[in-house]
Amino acid sequence: MALRAGDHSQAAMTGVKEKVLTLDTMNSSIRRVEYAVRGPIVLRALELEQELRQGVKKPFTEVIRANIGDAQAMGQKPITFLRQVLALCAHPDLLNSPNFPEDAKRRAEHILRACGGHSLGAYSISSGIQLIREDVARYIQQRDGGISADPDNIFLSTGASNAIVTVLKLLVAGEGRTRSGVLIPIPQYPLYSAALAELNAVQVDYYLDEERVWALDVAELRRALRQAREHCRPCALCVINPGNPTGQVQTRECIEAVIRFAFEERLFLLADEVYQDNVYAEGSQFHSFKKVLTEMGSPYAEQQELASFHSVSKGYMGECGFRGGYVEVVNMDPAVQQQMRKLMSVRLCPPVPGQVLLDVVVSPPAPSDPSFAQFQAEKQAVLAELAAKAKLTEQVFNESPGIHCNPVQGAMYSFPRMQLPPRAVQRAQELGLAPDMFFCMSLLEETGICVVPGSGFGQREGTYHFRMTILPPMEKLRPLLEKLSQFHAKFTQEYS
Ligand SMILES: Cc1ncc(COP(=O)(O)O)c(C=O)c1O
Repeated sequence: MALRAGDHSQAAMTGVKEKVLTLDTMNSSIRRVEYAVRGPIVLRALELEQELRQGVKKPFTEVIRANIGDAQAMGQKPITFLRQVLALCAHPDLLNSPNFPEDAKRRAEHILRACGGHSLGAYSISSGIQLIREDVARYIQQRDGGISADPDNIFLSTGASNAIVTVLKLLVAGEGRTRSGVLIPIPQYPLYSAALAELNAVQVDYYLDEERVWALDVAELRRALRQAREHCRPCALCVINPGNPTGQVQTRECIEAVIRFAFEERLFLLADEVYQDNVYAEGSQFHSFKKVLTEMGSPYAEQQELASFHSVSKGYMGECGFRGGYVEVVNMDPAVQQQMRKLMSVRLCPPVPGQVLLDVVVSPPAPSDPSFAQFQAEKQAVLAELAAKAKLTEQVFNESPGIHCNPVQGAMYSFPRMQLPPRAVQRAQELGLAPDMFFCMSLLEETGICVVPGSGFGQREGTYHFRMTILPPMEKLRPLLEKLSQFHAKFTQEYS
């Protein structure tokens, strides 16, 4: 056990030295870090699972983890072609097996030729295997209607998370009133608040407009920036599109307005586009910041600085565990880009299996390839099911009095707003909990449903939300949504 400062004399007597590393001496920035998606509610969910295994009686038989965007953990099957190529790369003896299609074998051989010692077990260069960065560049070019991408501006990463933190590290500088500030949406994905706390940067909140399906309003950006300039030096603006936890897909007009704003105010843009394949709502379409920025022409195209992030964790792939992702930087100062390369080289390289998966994602089987039909069928099936689950979630929640859910236009989550009676709010305060944490904890204890309170993502004062993924299997989703709604009704009644 750690000894406290006052225990010095006792330590001297017993000969036990005080720990060098204690809560008092450790990096205080890390103590400030919070990450709701894996916070107290999830720790309790783990305990409950353990208790169920030990035969403790509960009002439910399983814990349903609807707290995290981890598709395969919720039963989604991996895409066959991705795993075939990966398996062949990991164990090249399988190249002689008749059980793998020819195009998967060709692809694996192609990738292995680009690996050190022709093995996945070798480090790659720090920015990622050249061949894969070239394939990523081709993918971006095709996605963006022919706008070119330079492999030298692409850095493969350990999931998108690692690339995001790397770019934030480059941005953060200064002390006191000149400390860097980064504008982030509220509600936000808590990697941003956590990374900014760790880096001792200033988190500058701008609120998305819930009444207008979580629209991003430039007037609100202006307000946030004006206020922030009184106490820090805002240098970057982050946009998550499609949104997590809010599920909105930004319009092209909105993106143009954000780019103009960032340019006028000299802000580096971070575009978190990991859900670019997850767009469901009719009339919604994904527009990449890179494409919009380039099509806006001068001066934006050749001056506005941008980092755009993507990942193999989301989309139809859901390959979170392999930690594959990339960042493309646009108009970055070449000297800074050199520093970024150096920073990444300290960590040696992103996991090579994750790089391989990324390669297959960005260059899937072509129509003439034997695996094309199966690949397309599997991909479309996953996306169609997610679209149906997005719709169902919105529908069931909106049938429940006291719950309002905006359309889930994209990404993998609903973020419904719920009414909580004043007595429940008061009870939560007595317990020292945020009211929505109190609700989510009670929900978990009674039903086994694990969702994350809105307070973990940020929300307007006096409003209460929770984030629930749309990932549970279709046959479980409706009963789950109904159970959650019924619990909300019961909870409301109990505290009315
Ligand atoms: C908006 C957003 N950005 C980044 C990430 C990180 O993803 P990765 O698994 O690629 O690190 C997530 C994961 O949920 C996310 O939701």
